[in-house]
Amino acid sequence: MSTEWGALSQWHQDEKAWWNMYGDYMTYQWQLTPYLHRVIREPLEREYVDYLLKPGGRLLDLGCGGGWLSFHFAERGMSVLGIDISKEQINAADALKAKRKVENVSFACADFLDWDSGSYQGHFDSVFVSAFLHHLPESELELTLKKIGSVVKPGGRVFMYEPLTTVISRSLAIKLIDRVCSAALLVLLDKLPKWLGLISERHGAEVARGYTMTSPHERPVNVDLLKNFCANEFESVEIRGWHLHSLGFSMQVTALKEPAKRYYEPLGRIWYGIDRILFRYFGWESFSSPGRFILCSIKLAKR
Ligand SMILES: C[S@@+](CC[C@H](N)C(=O)[O-])C[C@H]1O[C@@H](n2cnc3c(N)ncnc32)[C@H](O)[C@@H]1O
Repeated sequence: MSTEWGALSQWHQDEKAWWNMYGDYMTYQWQLTPYLHRVIREPLEREYVDYLLKPGGRLLDLGCGGGWLSFHFAERGMSVLGIDISKEQINAADALKAKRKVENVSFACADFLDWDSGSYQGHFDSVFVSAFLHHLPESELELTLKKIGSVVKPGGRVFMYEPLTTVISRSLAIKLIDRVCSAALLVLLDKLPKWLGLISERHGAEVARGYTMTSPHERPVNVDLLKNFCANEFESVEIRGWHLHSLGFSMQVTALKEPAKRYYEPLGRIWYGIDRILFRYFGWESFSSPGRFILCSIKLAKR
């Protein structure tokens, strides 16, 4: 029991240390270039704003990072609380608040699992969970969903955007598509930038100080477990695949020198188009394989 507790505590400490150290650069990559942000993120943004926005209501932004997404709601009249385990990320969020001069948003540094939610029972109209859940140990998934459920009002809404995985046996066609995509990505994102010296100085410096594009323990969330645990708290679960290769590709575009970015950006748009076609015809689950990050939205409504 105590060994398990020790391992969980270590997990949280590792994540916290990583986000304190690299959160700033990760956020830069995660936000994408302005062009790719418009193409790849704005359709998703419309989806979660439509689902969660309730002017005059309260929203919890869970694992808010540098806080940039909280403003979609605060600037449209919601009262927003963002919480994050990393002090550096919360400092960045507070700095953004000062810059944007928005009053109805506040940020708190806390580990969600330890956060005292006692005075927030049934408090929020909406909870936004963007790329947070997959940083937690699987053994804490049930407790996390329970805690999220406890702070949402009856009839309130939760929107998650997370990498999901499931167990499937992949067809020959899918394996073939995967091979072709992997080969193309290897050439475009690994070989070419190295051969042609396209990596930016900033990215090189971050890698030199230990940055990798993934935090120590992150891994896709098991969708079957997620559905199971959600069934206790929420009345419906709606899942939609958004990004297969396009998001990772677009994040890596930010690692390139300025002129190279301009050549790569249209390719990011093409990957996004390919993702949409593949998901429409085969469904996101068909591409699932252990460790692959397939980014999906999950819409939940509280009983
Ligand atoms: C990928 S970032 C997402 C940030 C933001 N939601 C976004 O989409 O831009 C994941 C965030 O989760 C935070 N995090 C990880 N474990 C956490 C925990 N146990 N409690 C609160 N925040 C946590 C990290 O510090 C990090 O800022």
